[in-house]
Amino acid sequence: MSTYAVTGAASGMGRAVADKLAAGGHTVITVDIAEATVRADLSTPAGRRAAATAVLERCGGRLDGAVLAAGLGPAPGRDRPRLIAEVNYFGVVDLLEAWRPALAAADAAKVVVFSSNSSSTVPMVPGRAVRGFLEGDIERVLRTLRVFGKQAPTFAYAASKIAISRWVRRTAVTKEWAGAGIRLNAIAPGAVLTPLLEQQLATPAEAKQIRRFPVPIGGFGDPGQLADWVVFMLSDAADFLCGSVVFVDGGSDAWFRADDW
Ligand code: NAI
Repeated sequence: MSTYAVTGAASGMGRAVADKLAAGGHTVITVDIAEATVRADLSTPAGRRAAATAVLERCGGRLDGAVLAAGLGPAPGRDRPRLIAEVNYFGVVDLLEAWRPALAAADAAKVVVFSSNSSSTVPMVPGRAVRGFLEGDIERVLRTLRVFGKQAPTFAYAASKIAISRWVRRTAVTKEWAGAGIRLNAIAPGAVLTPLLEQQLATPAEAKQIRRFPVPIGGFGDPGQLADWVVFMLSDAADFLCGSVVFVDGGSDAWFRADDW
């Protein structure tokens, strides 16, 4: 049986993944600002350091895999772009950089990062914001997004998910990751019926936008089914998966950019 760290495990898809892994007999170290084995606020550097250290202590320096599901959606609010940037991007990168030696200590470790199909379907996301993330410069990200005013959380969300997908693809193929036997991949869901989406659906203007969004297969994704994909991406069947962003989104990404290859 294996040992996994799962962030964002108090709710939604992270919770569904943690439950399925535990039901499979694995040891799961959960990380969340709410109910979790390791309670930590991933929106601050100190919170991320504390979370990373606590997980390393609990796993004894060896992790068979990790799932990075903690995230914030594009809800309104002045401080929201900063929180989105901190949790959705740095809450992944800082933890994974700290956990890399423990992942390398396992045999064929697997990591699944939650991206989103917002990474390919939101238009006009400034490249400067995405580069700001990849260069670790959060102030540059926030300065760039200020022009969007009330729409800034939407663009912060999309930029954070583009940046994390690029980070996954760049990092996955390096000698420190693939070369150390670690399989690093991302999953990019479409609209999945979790508390995050329910919060957006509760605002009439956002609900209208979400319901108008093209989803060829129709409806919303199911958190349990998304968790099944993640569990598959952690399994031996995924030994040859490396640096992939797997879209599970009812066809929206294909609808927008079928020929974009
Ligand atoms: P959710 O809101 O149900 O769960 C997110 C979890 O992250 C919660 O348990 C929350 O407490 C935790 N979290 C938030 N801020 C935190 C912080 N500062 N420190 C520690 N933990 C924190 O969300 P859901 O829908 O399960 O989302 C999971 C991931 O999937 C997120 O990264 C989200 O961006 C992504 N996603 C979700 C989609 C959806 O339609 N639900 C679509 C595409 C991507």
